[in-house]
Amino acid sequence: MPSTETILTGDRPTGPLHLGHYAGSLANRVRLQHEHHQTILIADLQALTDNAGRAADVRRHVRDVVLDYLAVGIDPSVTTIALQSAMPELAELTVLYLNLVTVARLERNPTVKTEIELRGFARDIPAGFLTYPVSQAADITGARATLVPVGDDQVPMIEQTNEIVRRLAHIAGRPVLAECRALLSNTPRLPGIDGRKASKSLGNAIALSASPDEIRDAVRAMFTDPAHLRAADPGRVEGNVVFAHLRAFDPDQPAVAELEAHYRRGGLGDATVKRRLEDILQALLAPIRERREAAARNLASVDEIVRGGTARARVVAAGVLDDVRQAFALERWSAGTLERWSA
Ligand code: TRP
Repeated sequence: MPSTETILTGDRPTGPLHLGHYAGSLANRVRLQHEHHQTILIADLQALTDNAGRAADVRRHVRDVVLDYLAVGIDPSVTTIALQSAMPELAELTVLYLNLVTVARLERNPTVKTEIELRGFARDIPAGFLTYPVSQAADITGARATLVPVGDDQVPMIEQTNEIVRRLAHIAGRPVLAECRALLSNTPRLPGIDGRKASKSLGNAIALSASPDEIRDAVRAMFTDPAHLRAADPGRVEGNVVFAHLRAFDPDQPAVAELEAHYRRGGLGDATVKRRLEDILQALLAPIRERREAAARNLASVDEIVRGGTARARVVAAGVLDDVRQAFALERWSAGTLERWSA
């Protein structure tokens, strides 16, 4: 990894961020923010691509997501936090990039395919939804990002971004933008408490803002091994949600390996492992909850963080847009463009 990279990631503000986000990406962002230039985008336009009927909810969740960032330790003095819908440069980049992808390629994006099935869109896929990987390419290139810390479901977006970057270089006859790479976390995807995919919409994930009671109830409800009826029985750790969380969050991993062996042999009850996990999650989330509450007491300064971050991000995106317009043989955009055109 070069010593200083430009990092961009984003989150859709469709609900509070949860432990899956933390293990998959947020922890990486907190760690990387001091060594690299990092921007985090609140992707509210992307959220609208499958939530146009719930626009007010998306709006409301923008601030929750910012509070989640501050709560986990994103430091706004080193990380730029920007709001996608307040960056018209990204919308224009998206329109230009749409000329560099085919509908067939969009339909092959495996993540979008899965999401379409999950949402039951069938033939009624919003066009904005099918094309959101292109808008995501605008997000990434609009920050001149070289590194994108994401979960593995986002790898197809990085691939499509790089295809767009190469296609743009091809039509311009010279390199225009840099390619980027994904930075995957070491933690495999965290399952939801019911064993299905963790999702904000399924309500099966533990929010970073969960109360102590919610944490307790969620751990108690976690799917384990349905065949493990008595503590003395041998149990399965594969697909066992409690062990997935212990592997992700227990600071003592050798102890987790021993617990897994014990559970497999038999003689270790669900209640015991759940108690251990509950203690770990309470300890992990208590300071996060406190920082969130402290930040929420001064919402004016939270909004100012987003306003200032967006303004900084727009300066970078405007420079990228100039470069991309030139690649398309369009004039550099400035307030005088129209006047010159008609003169
Ligand atoms: N698609 C991402 C998600 O669903 C969110 C996102 C939007 C994003 N823009 C981005 C991620 C840019 C990385 C880079 O989680």
